[in-house]
Amino acid sequence: MANPSIIEAFERAGQGHVFAFYSKLDAAAQQRLLAEAAEIDLAEIDRLNRTLLSKAAASVNLDGLVPAPYEKLPDKGGNAAEWAKAKAAGEAALRAGRVAAFTVAGGQGTRLGYDGPKGTFPVTPLKKKTLFQVFAEKILAAGRRYGKPLHWFIMTSHANHAATETFFRENRYFGMDSGRVHFFRQGRMPAVDFNGKILLETPGSIAMSPDGHGGSLRALSRSGSLDLMKREGIDTLSYFQVDNPLVRCIDPSFVGYHLLRKSEMSSKMIPKAYPEERVGHFCVQNGKLVVVEYSDLPMELQRQTDASGQLRFLAGSIAIHILDTEFVRRMAEGGEGVSLPFHRADKKIATIDASGKAVKPEKPNGVKFEMFVFDALPFSQHPLVIETRREDDFSPVKNAEGVDSPKTCRDDQLRQFARWLKTNGAVVQTDKTGLPPFAVEVSPLFGYDEDSFADSWAGLSPKPRVEDGLYLG
Ligand code: UTP
Repeated sequence: MANPSIIEAFERAGQGHVFAFYSKLDAAAQQRLLAEAAEIDLAEIDRLNRTLLSKAAASVNLDGLVPAPYEKLPDKGGNAAEWAKAKAAGEAALRAGRVAAFTVAGGQGTRLGYDGPKGTFPVTPLKKKTLFQVFAEKILAAGRRYGKPLHWFIMTSHANHAATETFFRENRYFGMDSGRVHFFRQGRMPAVDFNGKILLETPGSIAMSPDGHGGSLRALSRSGSLDLMKREGIDTLSYFQVDNPLVRCIDPSFVGYHLLRKSEMSSKMIPKAYPEERVGHFCVQNGKLVVVEYSDLPMELQRQTDASGQLRFLAGSIAIHILDTEFVRRMAEGGEGVSLPFHRADKKIATIDASGKAVKPEKPNGVKFEMFVFDALPFSQHPLVIETRREDDFSPVKNAEGVDSPKTCRDDQLRQFARWLKTNGAVVQTDKTGLPPFAVEVSPLFGYDEDSFADSWAGLSPKPRVEDGLYLG
C-alpha cells in the first residue's frame, strides 16, 4: 500500500476523514490524494486552528500605533537632491544588472470573474494588450534603456500555472528572451471548516487554495529562484501585482532609494484619496513598520486629521515593493520568530457531505488561510516608504464593474497618455479630469514612464496629430 504513514499522520492529527473515500478511489486517484495530503503541514494546520479558529477573529492590537514617515515627492515638500541621487543610484544598479522584476500572479481573481489567468486579461484602450504584455514590454524597454536585459519572475498558482506558461509560449514571450522569464508555483493551503477539519472538494481531492501573496517569499526560495538570482548577480527584486498595468515595473528612483538606505524591503505609498479608501495604512508600532488593513483600523483613526487638516493616517499601501533577495531568503528559511503570520478569511468553499455528494454553500462554511507580503515589513532592516503619484503607478483591475474595474483602468491609462503628450508640448483635448474624449495608446516600447516617453517623443519628426486612434508604438 502506498505510503500509509501519511494516512496515519492525518488520523493522529484528527484529520483522518480526508481519507474517508480513499478505498473507493482507483490507484491513480489514491496517488493524487496522497500527493496533495503530503503538501500539508499538519502541525501548521493544528497551530492555525488553535490560534485563528478557537476564538472570534482577535482584534488587532493598536497600542502605540502612529503614522509611518515617508519620503515626500520633491514637489510635495521632499528633498529634490535626494531624489536625484536615488535615481542615479537606481540607474547604476539597473546598468549593473542587479535588479529583476517580480510579479505575483497566483491569485484567484474571483472579483473580476474572468475565466483564465488574470494576466491574460486585455486592458489597453486601443490594442487590447493583456496585462502580461504590458508588463513584458515595460520590462523589455527598461532593459534596452539601461543596456542590460532584465529577468522577470512570475509566481503562478497550481490552478493557472500551465495556462500562464502556454500563454507566454504562444505569444513568444512578447519579445523577451524566454530564458529570462521564469515561472514558479506558489504553495497551497487546505481550507478547513469552523471546527478545524480539513475540507474535501471531491471524494478524491482536498479543498486547496493559494497561500496568499505572502507565500511568494517561501515560493521564491523553494522554487530555486533565489539561487538563480544569486548566480545572475541579482540582489534586488521589484515586486508588483498582476492587476495593475499603470505600475512602473522598473522605477530607478525607487530602486535607488532602497539601495542607498540599505533597506531590506521598501514600499510605495499614495496619499489616500478620501478617509474611507480601502487600502492598507503604513504605520509604525514599537519601532517597526507595519501595514494595518482598512478593516482593522477604526474609522475614527481613518478619519483623524492633523493640525493642517490633512488625514493623519494618510499613507496608503498599493502593494508595490522592492525586496532584498537575502532578506527574502531569511524570511523563507524562517527560524525562531521569523515567519509571516497567517490570516483567516471566512469563505464559501465548495465541498462534499458525508455521503460524498457535492455541496455548494450559500454562506461561508469554512476558512482559508493566507499570508500577506506586507507582513514581512516588521522583520526587515531599515524599511523605507516613498511617495508616488497615483496616476503614475496605480490603477488596478479588481472588479468587473465600478471602482477598480476595466473601465476605470482604461480611463486612467488614457489620462496618463494624454498627460505625457501634453507635458511634451502636444495639443490634446481633455476634460477637467485629464481624460481625452477619444482613445489613444502609447506602447511601453515607445514610452513606459515620463522619461522614456519624453525621449522617444523628442526623437519623433514630424510629430503626429493627437486624434482618435493614435498609437505610438
Ligand atoms: P488580490 O488580493 O486582489 O486577490 O491579489 P485575487 O485572488 O487576485 O483576487 P480576488 O480577491 O479573488 O478577486 C492581489 C495580488 O496578489 C496576487 C494576485 O494574483 C494579485 O496580483 N496573489 C494573491 C497571489 O499571487 N497569490 C495569492 O494567493 C493571492
